[in-house]
Amino acid sequence: MKRIAVFASGTGSNFLALNDALNIDKSVAEITLVVSDKPKSLVVKNAHKLNINVFSFNPKEYKKRVEYEKNILLKLIENEIDFIVLAGYMRIIGKTLLSKFEKKIINIHPSLLPSFKGIDAIGQAIDYKVKITGVTIHYIDEGVDTGEIIAQQAIDISSLNSREEIETEIHKIEHQLYPKAIISLLEEKYEKSTD
Ligand code: GAR
Repeated sequence: MKRIAVFASGTGSNFLALNDALNIDKSVAEITLVVSDKPKSLVVKNAHKLNINVFSFNPKEYKKRVEYEKNILLKLIENEIDFIVLAGYMRIIGKTLLSKFEKKIINIHPSLLPSFKGIDAIGQAIDYKVKITGVTIHYIDEGVDTGEIIAQQAIDISSLNSREEIETEIHKIEHQLYPKAIISLLEEKYEKSTD
């Protein structure tokens, strides 16, 4: 049974979808810790409700990323975390975490990367008037949304009229694709491992 930390900054609908999926087959992994840079966010409230450990912090109280990431790392070690899932965590991951969790941090991004990297990918796609957009799951590396792609799914948005409708469609795909990718990745990655 692998121990996952979910990093999130906002609503946490992907966190809930993953938690539900992992509860169906309890032998693969569990969400042991939620890390958030927004102590008052809905994701933090929901994690508390589900009795999942939470480490939340205010980045403004730290001078540099390395300082809060050292605290995050301590929590990851304390909670014996094997794998990190970013789910709407709106911060760059620095070397402090990357070096200790190489190829063990993944992210979900609401576009077909490499299109529309960075902030507000949905807004970027709307501004560009693309007809097809989608969802990408990828490993985290030093860049912004540049890591190796694990899974992608395209969505035809040509008949959708509002940002709200597009967001709803993207979330629907995310809530299925992310848990599925995480579960198969964990099963594959640790297949031959004995611990
Ligand atoms: C998701 O749509 C995710 O793809 C996006 O944030 C949303 C979080 O929703 N992530 C990024 O834009 C990362 N660059 P949630 O809080 O309801 O899971």
